[in-house]
Amino acid sequence: MSKVAVIGSGNVGATTVQRLAELNIADIVMVDIVEGLPQGKALDIRQAAPLIGYDVDVIGTNDYADISNADVVVVTAGIARKPGMDRHDLLATNIKITQQVCSNIEKYAPDAIVITVTNPLDIITYAALRCTQFDRNRVFGMSGLLDSSRFASFIAKEMNCSIKDVNAMVLGGHGDSMVPLPEYATVAGIPLSKLMDAETIERIVNRTVNAGAEIVEYMKNGSAFYAPSAAIATMVEAILNDTKRIIPASTYLNGEYGQHDICLGVPVKLGKGGVEEIIELELSIQEMRALQRSANVVREGIAQIRS
Ligand code: LAC
Repeated sequence: MSKVAVIGSGNVGATTVQRLAELNIADIVMVDIVEGLPQGKALDIRQAAPLIGYDVDVIGTNDYADISNADVVVVTAGIARKPGMDRHDLLATNIKITQQVCSNIEKYAPDAIVITVTNPLDIITYAALRCTQFDRNRVFGMSGLLDSSRFASFIAKEMNCSIKDVNAMVLGGHGDSMVPLPEYATVAGIPLSKLMDAETIERIVNRTVNAGAEIVEYMKNGSAFYAPSAAIATMVEAILNDTKRIIPASTYLNGEYGQHDICLGVPVKLGKGGVEEIIELELSIQEMRALQRSANVVREGIAQIRS
């Protein structure tokens, strides 16, 4: 049986554990520094097993030694946004947490594939890569799949059609500068531009960019976790089952898309080796500029953690 470790037992971490258990693909360890919280939530999830029918082990712990031999480690630990906060406002606190988590991953699960989830996502991913010193195929961030799922959900709602027929992709940093690609969005293979006018597309694109903040505004004391955990579980499944799905993920770029020494959301092929390939799309000048703007924002954050 494969093993997945989830660091953090807040809403994102615990819901991820639930989704992974329901996929029935791996034993799961949930780690948190708060005593009792991961133990209690793991016990609760285990007690649902007879009803839902999953047959994997789920444990909660405060001891990082329990993540040893994990095939995949998902890092959700950190504080979340409150209304009015930008993802970058979390940087100082979350970078410290990430460094502690990563030194434990390096110590106890040196062969694992690491999926970062903590915000500001691209900067945290960069820090995790530096801290673990793993190869770039083994450390990458969940963001583009969430943003793409949001984009797709808005398209389906607008079209009043089945979500199954919608395909959409968002590149760039996980923030206000993200780059939804309407040119690459389709409904049953039909380009979006043939199905709705430019104004409607723009409205949907803007809503996608602000989708995380829209939820924070509603919830006041927390941020999204149902869609984020679904995106994480999808990525973990692609890795453990070696499905080679093409998914946007925040990945270290070494010349791809004209970018160097940065983590940015780009389409990748996910399999048992983690990021097995970076897919380079031919972008329009406008899309390239938008990606560059997004890269600039991420670079400012990276410069901050270096100083
Ligand atoms: C969001 C936060 C979690 O996009 O980044 O909902």
